[in-house]
Amino acid sequence: MKKVAVLTSGGDAPGMNAAILGVVKYGQAHDIEVYGINYGYKGLLNNEVKKLNLGDVEDTIHRGGTFLHTARSEYFQTKKGQEEAKSILDKYEIESLIIIGGNGSLEGAKKLSNLGMPTVVVPATIDNDIAGTDYAIGFDTAVNTVTQLIDSIKEAISSIGRTIIIEVMGRDAGYIALWAGICTEAESIIIPEDDLNLEKVIQRIEQNQARGKKHNIIVVAEGAYSGEDLKRKLESRTDLEIRTLVLGYLQRGGAPTAYDRMIAGQMGVKALELVENNFYNYMVTVKNGKISEIQYADIDRNEVANDLFNGNESISVLRNE
Ligand code: F6P
Repeated sequence: MKKVAVLTSGGDAPGMNAAILGVVKYGQAHDIEVYGINYGYKGLLNNEVKKLNLGDVEDTIHRGGTFLHTARSEYFQTKKGQEEAKSILDKYEIESLIIIGGNGSLEGAKKLSNLGMPTVVVPATIDNDIAGTDYAIGFDTAVNTVTQLIDSIKEAISSIGRTIIIEVMGRDAGYIALWAGICTEAESIIIPEDDLNLEKVIQRIEQNQARGKKHNIIVVAEGAYSGEDLKRKLESRTDLEIRTLVLGYLQRGGAPTAYDRMIAGQMGVKALELVENNFYNYMVTVKNGKISEIQYADIDRNEVANDLFNGNESISVLRNE
């Protein structure tokens, strides 16, 4: 019987549990033994390996985060750490490893593959910034959460008439900011994919004031500026009283949306199916709406996953560009 392990790594993302469920269910249906590793690569280095049965994973699909827990490990990034991880997997007679996580996790998977441990990756990060796939698990939930939070903030600031800068996550990518900003009619959306045009931001606020609108929402992606930095820049040019808010972990938690559960479940199934058929060094993907796969070697880190940031006319109109 094939022995496969699964772990979640890096930042947790809503939907990770559904992906694990997909792996476990496929394992049950195809007589493949599935092991779970707690706390990602870090846990692997601490021998946190246990057999996973359906009972371990059932009734977790509706929960955010990951019941296998996750971690970031500096030691695993060293050659010594990777070799140690490989020998621990060998000790448990694990033949291949499924890694659910973001870009850092993918790099770790490649390293283990190079050491002779076959791996398959399931992309999961609220940042949605993984090249080679149109979608990463967790993004839909995060965007919906951020949208709802901003809706609620809007009710308050539109009553009292305030300008607020809301800093959202995304690491070096502006997906969360762009989507949530458009979906809440933010006056300005500042993302790392394009240069800040302070004049335009100010102009937009002044136009609002001229027509009697007293509240303004500016959504800024953390990869572009911190909310506080942007506030300082704006305050040096206007006499507005500006508030800032960092949404932080609020946007990473919460029950996964139906979309995330559905995609994650299918991705989990696909990952184990690849392993069963000896397709290694692959990342599961969503391409043009279909669950598919790509070899690590074919992933182009410079590829922009879609054209949202590049001359998309409708997006430019919606974001007041
Ligand atoms: O990659 C997901 C993410 O939430 C990023 O958006 C953010 O920059 C980072 O993780 C925060 O990392 P940590 O949870 O380690 O503070």
